[in-house]
Amino acid sequence: MDFDAFRDLASRQRAIRKIDPERPVDDALIEQMLTVATFAPSGGNRQPFRFIVVHDPGVRAKLAEIYDEVANRRYGNAASRTSWSDVPVLIAVCSESRPGNTAGAALAQAGSIFPAVQNLLLAAQALGLGSVLTTLWKEREAEVNAALGLPGGAAVYAILPIGWPDRQYGRNKRQPFSEVTFRDRYGESW
Ligand SMILES: Cc1cc2nc3c(=O)[nH]c(=O)nc-3n(C[C@H](O)[C@H](O)[C@H](O)COP(=O)(O)O)c2cc1C
Repeated sequence: MDFDAFRDLASRQRAIRKIDPERPVDDALIEQMLTVATFAPSGGNRQPFRFIVVHDPGVRAKLAEIYDEVANRRYGNAASRTSWSDVPVLIAVCSESRPGNTAGAALAQAGSIFPAVQNLLLAAQALGLGSVLTTLWKEREAEVNAALGLPGGAAVYAILPIGWPDRQYGRNKRQPFSEVTFRDRYGESW
């Protein structure tokens, strides 16, 4: 694969919160995204990730009510994002089990879910779709779990609204790698 094309894709992956509410997203595209998501690495190749693809207006409305309440309370500015009621598809990324009680187990579990989330985000970008990784709803986790019909042992890690972006977005703004990279020891410049 052409590395420049991959780097360009990664540099254009952005948090897209404004979505065209009128334009549906074909299931075929969602399936392409999910296929790429399942290619992600996981601890021991256990593949604990599970995906709930939400179209149902009632479920979206409930999740929208929860998310909007938390997001408005924390950040305000509801106009800067499309309500999840109007976003065509939400993907909740879950684990099929809860991690054990050690710090290492929690790290391994989260580390076995978020690579799949990143693959979803990159796949969405490659297909021209917009999305954003969200976790703000976590403070009302029990209600989110109930809305999604989650079984007791499972947990939600991220919810991604998916749809066609309202406009074209430029590249993301990130620190140069050399400012966040050390040579041999922390603090020693690259
Ligand atoms: C762990 C994590 C949690 C996030 N939670 C939220 C969220 O709840 N809501 C939201 O709108 N964006 C959320 N974001 C998106 C970030 O705000 C976004 O990636 C960052 O500001 C960079 O935006 P950009 O890619 O457009 O430059 C989250 C990102 C990460 C990595």
